[in-house]
Amino acid sequence: MKHVFANWKMYLDFDESCILANQLLSQSFDAQKINLAIFPNFLAVSELVKIFRDTPIAVGGQTCAWAPKGAYTGAVSALLLKEVGCRYVLVGHSERRYIFGESGDDVRKKLEAALAAGLVPVLCVGETETDRKEEKREYRLKKQLLKALEGLDLSGRRLMVAYEPVWAIGSGNPCLPADADDIHGWIKLELKQYSEKDIPVLYGGSVEADKAAEYVARDMIDGILVGGAAVKFETFLPLLRAVESR
Ligand code: PGA
Repeated sequence: MKHVFANWKMYLDFDESCILANQLLSQSFDAQKINLAIFPNFLAVSELVKIFRDTPIAVGGQTCAWAPKGAYTGAVSALLLKEVGCRYVLVGHSERRYIFGESGDDVRKKLEAALAAGLVPVLCVGETETDRKEEKREYRLKKQLLKALEGLDLSGRRLMVAYEPVWAIGSGNPCLPADADDIHGWIKLELKQYSEKDIPVLYGGSVEADKAAEYVARDMIDGILVGGAAVKFETFLPLLRAVESR
């Protein structure tokens, strides 16, 4: 079974989110082959939870606050996401790190909050274009993983990781499946320092329907995190079918 996680970012408004969710609902997916989760904007989260109730399709938050409750204007906690029915939350997406200035400390605190709330965090890591040019990919990933996971109590808890090279996101220039497979193998070895369990590692960054099956066919790639190709039914359905028929 491979994971397909759809990060709808701020692409869709409330109505568009519900329409796309209902289009997905009208399809059946083989739960043995695909674990599908949708990460809509916060305002659409509880409506999507209702739409997907009693189906295998899960809903997640795109980020969360690190505090559980209180005087944090504009924030949405992991606890609130859990209460409305989310299963997952993305933590440390590069758009949060680089556009909204989230630090490694913030990412760590959010991970702790997500785990404490009973959500499954999807920790996003990835090197920038500059890192890549300077051949610092492993250095950047090691640093992000260490900051996020060192000393974190993962016993009895689930964690997932998404490898999302910043240069590949939304660029139409993905990290190709063979290269992604290699670096996922390296990430999985790194993760052994933090947990004995196998932590699923998803690839994200310009995944389109035509390549989706090639990613999930790789042993080290446990699934994909899809942005742009997941916000239109016409592109998302073929992608899902490609993963399913792998
Ligand atoms: P993309 O986004 O598929 O549009 O590159 C992926 C992501 O940011 O999670």
